[in-house]
Amino acid sequence: MKFFIDTANVDEIREAASLGVLDGVTTNPTLLGREIERTHRRPEDILREICEIVNGPVSAEGVSLDAEGIVKEGKELAKIHKNICIKVPMTPDGMKAIRKFRSLGITTNTTLVFSCNQALIAAKAGTNYLSPFIGRLDDAGHSGMELVDQILTMLENYEFDSQLIVASIRHPLHVVEASLIGAHICTIPFKVIKLMFKHPLTDQGIKRFLEDWERAKKFKK
Ligand code: E4P
Repeated sequence: MKFFIDTANVDEIREAASLGVLDGVTTNPTLLGREIERTHRRPEDILREICEIVNGPVSAEGVSLDAEGIVKEGKELAKIHKNICIKVPMTPDGMKAIRKFRSLGITTNTTLVFSCNQALIAAKAGTNYLSPFIGRLDDAGHSGMELVDQILTMLENYEFDSQLIVASIRHPLHVVEASLIGAHICTIPFKVIKLMFKHPLTDQGIKRFLEDWERAKKFKK
């Protein structure tokens, strides 16, 4: 499974990248807006820095909703770095934009996917990545992971080459469940990445090894 980080915070991205397990980044207008407020930097400068930290796809999203506007904004974003992948909303105009991006050699990530039919349409349109938002589905009382399972079956049935990104992850168990059903990618918030490392028995084990070693040192010649 590939790990993407779901943030535009460059400090978090740098720290996660230093762990050596990061394959890409996803941002959205909310996350990038948060980083602009935090750092007072231009969005293009933030995205460029992210691309320099992580050698993998970096999803960036505009705010246009009509196909022409999505393509125009996407082309500008794609100029920032070769690894920029354009997030496209799961709408008819978004799907029209995907066709155009494909002809331009620009990669796309269909965002805000909440049903198997939407994923099927995005795969047929030729999206490179598609992102079901599982946490938001869980919040609404539906099973996000059930949808991931359905979409994986659908993609396999027809040998689509779109990669599924499990998005809107809320806790480490989401990543476990996604890995057990074979999801291609999880995009994970930084706080969840940190939680994935933790186990109280690991901490206890380290503490005990150090204490035992300290005691044994007294008997060294
Ligand atoms: C994915 O690409 C999105 O940026 C993200 O996962 C949305 O998550 P949220 O539901 O926590 O906002």
